[in-house]
Amino acid sequence: MIETKGLHRSYRIGKKSIEVLHGIDLQIYKGEKVFLCGPSGAGKTTLLYTLAGLERPELGSVYIAGTDLYQLGRKQQAAFRNRSIGYVFQNYHLLPELTALENVAVPGAIAGLNHNEAAMIALERVGLKDRADHLPSEMSGGEQQRVAIARAIVNQPNVLFADEPTGNLDSNTSKEIMEILMQLADEQGVTLVVVTHDRGLAEVGDRTLVIKDGKVT
Ligand SMILES: Nc1ncnc2c1ncn2[C@@H]1O[C@H](COP(=O)(O)OP(=O)(O)OP(=O)(O)O)[C@@H](O)[C@H]1O
Ligand SMILES: [Mg+2]
Repeated sequence: MIETKGLHRSYRIGKKSIEVLHGIDLQIYKGEKVFLCGPSGAGKTTLLYTLAGLERPELGSVYIAGTDLYQLGRKQQAAFRNRSIGYVFQNYHLLPELTALENVAVPGAIAGLNHNEAAMIALERVGLKDRADHLPSEMSGGEQQRVAIARAIVNQPNVLFADEPTGNLDSNTSKEIMEILMQLADEQGVTLVVVTHDRGLAEVGDRTLVIKDGKVT
């Protein structure tokens, strides 16, 4: 479902160039639940962005379901992402002036779907139907995280990327969020790539990848 070949990405800070991704070759299968671990600054977010089409690699390619992501034109790529890829950002990225329901409805609206109904179904899946009319500022961190997950799944993506989806949550809420993600993979065949610091949480997955020194092992 996800295949990469020779991904390279470096950042220039002043005169120094740091190679964050140093030739990454990956194969992730349909419906697989993969965790991505590694020390802070190792490049987990950079890799996830690159896999999701949010950051073009300097070298190499990313195939999602056979589509070469970075060979698509800008509009085509945005449409492909909207349809096939869900992304839960490291710090939620909810729009503060929109309610939970409105936040979840955004990707559906872009795709021109019946977005309110789909958004309500997605909120129900993450157990937040009764918070549909709340603003992010009126919700706890765990609730906001669940809204972000609902938004990521509203268009029924084939692939879901989640960057530290339990980063700031207590251990019970973390387990709940992981269970929701695992259920999506088990019941709907979604391919999951989840970044976590918590090796314990990663045990529920099929495979754990570790990124270090620009390489994945
Ligand atoms: N836009 C940027 N400009 C310059 N350097 C960057 C940029 N984005 C990331 N980096 C650098 O690339 C490296 C990898 O960053 P990245 O955010 O991918 O790490 P991470 O593994 O997700 O870390 P964390 O666990 O803290 O979230 C870091 O050294 C970071 O400083
Ligand atoms: Mg990160």
